[in-house]
Amino acid sequence: MRIAVGSDHAAYDLKTEMVSTLRELGHKIVDFGPGSPDPVDYPDIALAVARAVAAGEVDRGVVACGTGVGVSIVANKVPGVRAALCHDTFSARASRQHNDANVLCLGARVIGPGLALEVLKAWLRAEFERGGRHERRVRRITEIEAGLGPRQGDGRPEGGGRP
Ligand code: RB5
Repeated sequence: MRIAVGSDHAAYDLKTEMVSTLRELGHKIVDFGPGSPDPVDYPDIALAVARAVAAGEVDRGVVACGTGVGVSIVANKVPGVRAALCHDTFSARASRQHNDANVLCLGARVIGPGLALEVLKAWLRAEFERGGRHERRVRRITEIEAGLGPRQGDGRPEGGGRP
């Protein structure tokens, strides 16, 4: 698989470990940096990885920062990207099977490298479950992204959203 990887300084060590593990597993890695643990702003790295995924230059993206929150917020701004912040293997697998997540986000200050690598491997192994309700829902995400408005129930809570 072609995988784009990037992080900020807070996840530099984790990113280094992920890159070597992924290479050992035979994946082709595009490393968006950083190349040192010096401070770097996570939005720029997450944007570069997400754009590579959206453009089809790579099959998947993996981004990490201290919490994983910043990179996930940024990655999900790029149309075509479904970024999932996962710190356990159950969510990682489900994010592929149910949501067809194409970017994995990790927080290096939240979980240790051992678990992070297990989460990463579980995420890479899992496949999207096509042809049913999950595909319909992911299609709906794409429609919403394209500006197609509310459908079911007009997106309002029962009672029309009135107090
Ligand atoms: C950097 O200190 C930290 O803010 C960053 O790694 C990340 O956690 C942001 O969401």
